[in-house]
Amino acid sequence: MNLSRLALSLGQSATLKLNELANNLKAEGKPVIHLGGGEPEEKIPGGALEESRKMLDAGFVRYTPVSGTAPLKKEIAAYTEAHYGVKPGPKNIVVASGAKQAIYNFLVSVVDPGDQVIFPAPYWVSYPEMVRLAYGTPVIVRPPKGELLVSAADIEAHLTSCTKAILLNSPNNPSGQVYSEEFVREMVEICEHRNIYLLMDDIYNRLVFDGLKAPSAFNFSQRPLNDSVIVSINGVSKTFSMTGYRIGWSVANEALTQAMIKVQAQVSSCPSALSQTAAAGALREGSGFVDKLRSGLEKKRDVMVAELSKLKKVKLHKPQGTFYSFPDFSAYEPDSTKLSNMLLEKAMVVTVPGMEFGLEGHLRLSYCGAEKDIVEGVSRIRKILD
Ligand SMILES: Cc1ncc(COP(=O)(O)O)c(C=O)c1O
Repeated sequence: MNLSRLALSLGQSATLKLNELANNLKAEGKPVIHLGGGEPEEKIPGGALEESRKMLDAGFVRYTPVSGTAPLKKEIAAYTEAHYGVKPGPKNIVVASGAKQAIYNFLVSVVDPGDQVIFPAPYWVSYPEMVRLAYGTPVIVRPPKGELLVSAADIEAHLTSCTKAILLNSPNNPSGQVYSEEFVREMVEICEHRNIYLLMDDIYNRLVFDGLKAPSAFNFSQRPLNDSVIVSINGVSKTFSMTGYRIGWSVANEALTQAMIKVQAQVSSCPSALSQTAAAGALREGSGFVDKLRSGLEKKRDVMVAELSKLKKVKLHKPQGTFYSFPDFSAYEPDSTKLSNMLLEKAMVVTVPGMEFGLEGHLRLSYCGAEKDIVEGVSRIRKILD
């Protein structure tokens, strides 16, 4: 087959592949437990449903402006002001078909062939391939052995004249760890000093536990938004349990936003009008939904931690946010792909190998599903390993 070098070089999304596998096994009637998922099980907010219904009843679902509808941008601006310490105008926002497309818009807008994009491991599975899609070079910074967070000095040691951007995701998929204020402040200082972009993937940013708050990079910036190197990526997929609606967005300076709009205009025109109206409904509904989701996830996090602590040789950094845990299973089996395959085969439990997130020896176990699945899934793993 005659495929491009780029297409041939790209890896598959490990998490999406595992989702498909888990669904297929379930459809075959196998007693599979899916601890590899990446979406909350809660129903979408009532406001989102109501807005979707209204639009369907009216019978008009048309193209919208490329960068998103005015009502949704108004809600995004208010949400950003309330939670991220900056108030964007409509020219600072691009609504995209998911946070993933917003990140892609950004990368294609700033990366030239050969440019480097730095991010710490463990990282979201898509970052390396998305940087490659933009003809950039991913530069991965690994934490010291036994740790899940890198220091500012670790990042600084990887900066070169080709560095175009640093990507941070806090709280982090897969580790659930939150970057400290000090670390985020240092990242802002480095990026402003060197004039390189700081992309904050804030998609889980409000799903933080124990009264903690994930710091917003904008709080440490010395510059107004239109001169800022900070780009915040957000969306309704995780915080509002609306993964299937595919709505995310970016908040950035106007010049960069203009470039991202051009990219999106040529790739996908605009996100679905139906989804945009639903997302506006969700944001309008306010914090009640998110607070409930967060407290439910915190309880499930506690169940996951309690179950994992029963395994004799697992090491775990307690997750501070998201709905993922990232225990170190290397004392049982250092090859995470081998271990994950074995657990699927022998225990019918789906996990994601740490290798896919750039940190071998770990597995990612999600706690966004039913509590009984968390208990049963980890107990099956224990039976096999202990
Ligand atoms: C860290 C991170 N960023 C971005 C995304 C993409 O979100 P969306 O579904 O809005 O495209 C995900 C989804 O799993 C994620 O985990």
